[in-house]
Amino acid sequence: MRLDVVTIFPEYLEPLNVSLVGKARARGQLDVHVHDLRQWTYDRHNTVDDTPYGGGPGMVMKTEPWGDALDSLLADGYEAGDGGPVLVVPTPSGRPFTQELAVELSERPWLVFTPARYEGIDRRVMDEYAARMPVYEVSIGDYVLAGGEAAVLVITEAVARLLPGVLGNAASHRDDSFAPGAMANLLEGPVYTKPPEWRGRGIPDVLLSGHHGKIARWRRDEALRRTALNRPDLLERCAAADFDKKDREMLSILGWAPEPGGRFWRKVQDVEE
Ligand SMILES: C[S@@+](CC[C@H](N)C(=O)[O-])C[C@H]1O[C@@H](n2cnc3c(N)ncnc32)[C@H](O)[C@@H]1O
Repeated sequence: MRLDVVTIFPEYLEPLNVSLVGKARARGQLDVHVHDLRQWTYDRHNTVDDTPYGGGPGMVMKTEPWGDALDSLLADGYEAGDGGPVLVVPTPSGRPFTQELAVELSERPWLVFTPARYEGIDRRVMDEYAARMPVYEVSIGDYVLAGGEAAVLVITEAVARLLPGVLGNAASHRDDSFAPGAMANLLEGPVYTKPPEWRGRGIPDVLLSGHHGKIARWRRDEALRRTALNRPDLLERCAAADFDKKDREMLSILGWAPEPGGRFWRKVQDVEE
């Protein structure tokens, strides 16, 4: 996979040399190019921003440097369609970044990121490139950062670990929270390692039982428990068919019940209110 990042803070992307992403680069699984946006400014002050039309506080990133930067890097191998690039624009006003979106992006050969600063990028830039490639405006959460570089690091790490051969154990992400399939709307439960006792705290007996069926059931129950506690909205999104008989028993212990229509589950006390 090829990644291009255009930024006014190239040094902010240094973590792309470290750990999983760094190793994927070293192995040639990721081809990363970080570009300084100011390379495409032609005035003495390397200006990338200007005052907003319509007034108001803050500055807006100008069309010309972004246009020239994107044209220049896209000239190196652009093709339309599935084999071509997608533009990933970090913005708090974008669609939420989810595991599902990480999977979608991991299937593309080329991601071009445009992390902004100030009040963001002049709208015409996204509209211009949307005519040439898919544009994903993506938010990493309901809060506002000073710039999009941290969002690029987040998205890159989530995508890179899904690429074939990047994780040592290919099954590692199968049981992750949000993993497509049985875990799509569930959070992973707690995990333990040696020693078996630490400061008087043991581990659940079932994990020492060697009984794979019982361990899988315990993990599933803990995933349901944690999801009910921390992300009830995820459980409410599940279809009734997503739960087996044992799941339903666990949900009922946790105080959840089927909606009259049978599709979603919600807290018993909410139903009674
Ligand atoms: C100060 S923010 C601009 C916020 C903008 N005025 C708004 O309210 O939507 C500057 C840049 O940081 C990045 N950014 C901030 N919060 C983000 C988030 N939650 N997800 C992704 N990118 C974010 C984007 O690149 C954004 O253009």
